[in-house]
Amino acid sequence: MARCFSLAAFGTPLRINDPGCVAKTFPDYFSRFAAVTKAAPVIAIDGPSASGKGTVAARVAAALGYAYLDSGALYRLTALAAREAGVDWADEAAVAAIAARLDVRFAEDGVYLGGVNVDEAIRSEAISAGSSEVAAWPAVRAALLFRQRAFNTAPGLVGDGRDMASVVFPQATLKIFLTATVEARAERRYKQLIEKGFSANLSRLLLDLQQRDARDSGRSVAPLRQETDARLLDTTGLTIDQAVNQVLQWYREASR
Ligand code: CDP
Repeated sequence: MARCFSLAAFGTPLRINDPGCVAKTFPDYFSRFAAVTKAAPVIAIDGPSASGKGTVAARVAAALGYAYLDSGALYRLTALAAREAGVDWADEAAVAAIAARLDVRFAEDGVYLGGVNVDEAIRSEAISAGSSEVAAWPAVRAALLFRQRAFNTAPGLVGDGRDMASVVFPQATLKIFLTATVEARAERRYKQLIEKGFSANLSRLLLDLQQRDARDSGRSVAPLRQETDARLLDTTGLTIDQAVNQVLQWYREASR
């Protein structure tokens, strides 16, 4: 076997001169190898805060029987873990070390950090702001990259975030930039909070969203933007069902 793969390395084109060398010891080696290395399809959905991309992405994943990656949760978990460890969000190296060691489990009933359910804790306003602060650090993004790619298993994946199409899954079958006006997004978030029994202030939410949009779009590494090969889905006047159906229709077209 060593003779066949002496040049093997990820990303390096490889020619196998003597594929027959496995005939005796592992006859179906190449069909098995193809089965495990064939990339599963990805739908990449990027967009600004409160655009509804999480809800749409999760429903599209459920409709297709695909896995769902909420990449924002990883940045939120990093911000929370750093705060719990007493690490300043401004300390890039220390926060990146925490991101690399995150003990995370995504379960049916929410996200676990070090065995504790932190579903509510990572959605607080403080952690929302902290997540976009730590997400601006290149070392933090690098530390979380492979963890995100590991979700790309069969039969497929729907990932939502800011850089799904540009950095994490540039090979995605379908790329979508899902957005809505900042006023519509603030109103949605306001309704969500009120429904959950929290108090909320619409003009404060609008300002928070504008600040987070500016930080996410203005950073030098993996800024939020519509890729040239991504389709624009403006959900301002759409229901969730309409948005989900549009994504599914585009996906059918893209998979033909
Ligand atoms: O739910 P919301 O859209 O407000 O945020 P999120 O998707 O949970 O992401 C939280 C923060 O993480 C965002 O404000 C971004 O700064 C950052 N993020 C990122 O930089 N890249 C991603 N792929 C996902 C999130």
